[in-house]
Amino acid sequence: MAEGRVVSFADDGASPWRCDFPALAHRMHGKPLAFLDSAASAQKPSVVIEAMDRVYREGYSNIHRGLYEISQNLTADFEAARGKVARFIGAQEKNIVFTRNATEGINLVAQSWGRTYLRAGDEILITQMEHHANIVPWQILRDQIGIVLKAAPIMADGRLDMDGFKEMLSPRTKMLAFTQISNGLGTINPVEAMIEMARKSCPDVKILVDGSQGVVHRAVDVRVMDADFYVFTGHKLYGPSGIGVLYGKHDILESMPPYQGGGDMIERVRLDETVYREAPYKFEAGTPAIVEVIGLGAAVDYLSAAGMVNVAAHEAALLAYATPLIQEIDGLTLLGPEDLYYKAGVLSFTMDYAHPSDIGMVLDQCGVAVRSGHHCAMPLMEALGVDATARASFGLYTNRDDVDALIAGLRKVKDLFG
Ligand code: ALA
Repeated sequence: MAEGRVVSFADDGASPWRCDFPALAHRMHGKPLAFLDSAASAQKPSVVIEAMDRVYREGYSNIHRGLYEISQNLTADFEAARGKVARFIGAQEKNIVFTRNATEGINLVAQSWGRTYLRAGDEILITQMEHHANIVPWQILRDQIGIVLKAAPIMADGRLDMDGFKEMLSPRTKMLAFTQISNGLGTINPVEAMIEMARKSCPDVKILVDGSQGVVHRAVDVRVMDADFYVFTGHKLYGPSGIGVLYGKHDILESMPPYQGGGDMIERVRLDETVYREAPYKFEAGTPAIVEVIGLGAAVDYLSAAGMVNVAAHEAALLAYATPLIQEIDGLTLLGPEDLYYKAGVLSFTMDYAHPSDIGMVLDQCGVAVRSGHHCAMPLMEALGVDATARASFGLYTNRDDVDALIAGLRKVKDLFG
């Protein structure tokens, strides 16, 4: 797990890691770039860019297949990256399946585990704050085999309603799938308490945690968490797009059939029968995202050196700085938990006089990048009674200057529309 050394932060809240991200030196509309859309996709440090560039320039080949030196070396680097990713979340190599993204990890569990072990009438419990990636795969499964899909309610402040959650757990609940941190609001869920509650009420339950935002903002140890599955994506974790991770307990992965068939996932193929490799390899059909895996390995090395505890401390300080400033703006409603203990570095808001798209467009002209819309969480928007929000989200490279640029931009929105 990523502890890192203890970092002392500058008094002005400047990120000690910002200089590692070349894209942040660029300007937008002639203004310094205030990149506040890391929840959608994060910028990449030079070490990730260089690690990927090095493979293409100095030793690219396919892996697991060539007897020649560069293929053997790249195979070793690829499998070493599996080990880095595993250690980053307290797992072992045999628990790590490389997928295209978190979405593919959830689809894999739904189609492989779900179609094998669930029957009509079995229940899957999610929450109202899920990303579409943790809703739609279960709806597809529901329509295929007749399971019942339920969603635990949230409270007005965007936290999970724990009483409502508890009421929805039953011995029929066979899968509990929920997000560690909401991408739309930044709400931090009480993961361990939820898992403990579920295991008490539902003897046969399996638990999937969507860590797409969680692994970015917190040190994660899957052994402590005790989820059966944990998914995340590389591009939000300062790594490349096109690569994601499905962690699974090994005995559960072993008990699941392959999700896709093809090369590299087999021991032996005859025209009438195939013998698959063991997990995780039986879930990795075809040539994988070789260079992206190397890039993800470099990203987790980088974060391990930074220390996720330090990253979380930096982002918490920024959130404490930004929250009262944004709340001072007339007609602006900040959504999500008021108590910052329950919130990661996300500011999701509406303004009485401007639609989130207008806010996004004015901020763009000010050099400030935010996301406007439903954040791939339409049921969350519905539960909050809005159709969209504007969302500023922090990364480890975010500075107070970025927050100041956001606040100045929002004042401009008020001048134009208010
Ligand atoms: N899921 C990404 C977001 O939250 C794209 O913006």
